[in-house]
Amino acid sequence: MTTTTEAVTLEGLRDALGLLKDREQVAERLLESSAKHSFDPDKELDWEAPAEDGKWFWPPELLSLYDTPLWRKMPEEQRMDLARHEAAALASLGIWFEIILMQLLVRHIYDKSVTSAHVRYALTEIADECRHSMMFARMIKKAGAPTYPVTRAHHNLARVLKTISTTPGSFACTLLGEEILDWMQRLTFPDERVQPLVRGVTRIHVIEEARHVRYAREELRRQMVTAPRWERELTRLSSGEAARVFSLAFVNPKVYDNIGLNRHEALAQVKASAHRREVMQTGAKRLTDFLDDIGVMRGPGRRLWRSSGLLA
Ligand SMILES: [Fe+2]
Ligand SMILES: [Fe+2]
Repeated sequence: MTTTTEAVTLEGLRDALGLLKDREQVAERLLESSAKHSFDPDKELDWEAPAEDGKWFWPPELLSLYDTPLWRKMPEEQRMDLARHEAAALASLGIWFEIILMQLLVRHIYDKSVTSAHVRYALTEIADECRHSMMFARMIKKAGAPTYPVTRAHHNLARVLKTISTTPGSFACTLLGEEILDWMQRLTFPDERVQPLVRGVTRIHVIEEARHVRYAREELRRQMVTAPRWERELTRLSSGEAARVFSLAFVNPKVYDNIGLNRHEALAQVKASAHRREVMQTGAKRLTDFLDDIGVMRGPGRRLWRSSGLLA
């Protein structure tokens, strides 16, 4: 169990200065990397090329229904259709998250020095997310699929969260949105069974997202040392609640309607699927290990994480 002192001591001040220096150094390195490896998806990807016959829009093993009794009954064509719609649903979820994240980053830097590397990197990340959201939207259109908004309730819950959340909670939620999708995308871009456009989109996203994850992790780590006790407790609870909402939003039942399946039957099979549980828990493991390490996974928050199905 770690203890933190909230009293202002000389040592405390020295630590705070050290953290600020560390924050600037991390941002400088991320800015250097951004200067070297940033992409303009409009120019980088071939948007005119037609979709290739027989290629998946998402790796089958990462689809919600994979290896369920329903999956085994589905003809290949319907499975591939599920992949196309689930890829569009995940891209829609990604855009929703990125729009939330952009607002969180804008709020994060509002009171900070505009010439600091930390703020300059946040602005760089906002620019990355702008390009990503446009890229995902273009991919959805190109796939010939509809957009898949989250439910009204989740949409409005996030409206409240992104307006009132404090810094550590914001960065914990950021990591939740980024790391699991990132894990899936790392398996998608090298996969030769997948559509070239989807491979290109996920490759760009993985490269640029690695920096975002680093930025959020380092900030959250610092925040969990320096934030007052109430804020650390709030972060544990709000990230647990966000994990619960996220795991529900991860599967969009309209996908099943649109490919001619019964949504209730499909959802029940996804819920009962051991393969799916393993995919989600493996995808979340890097994140849950990290959060555990820095003290986010304690008390009632941990119970929420467990109920989300993301924590083994
Ligand atoms: Fe992104
Ligand atoms: Fe990101």
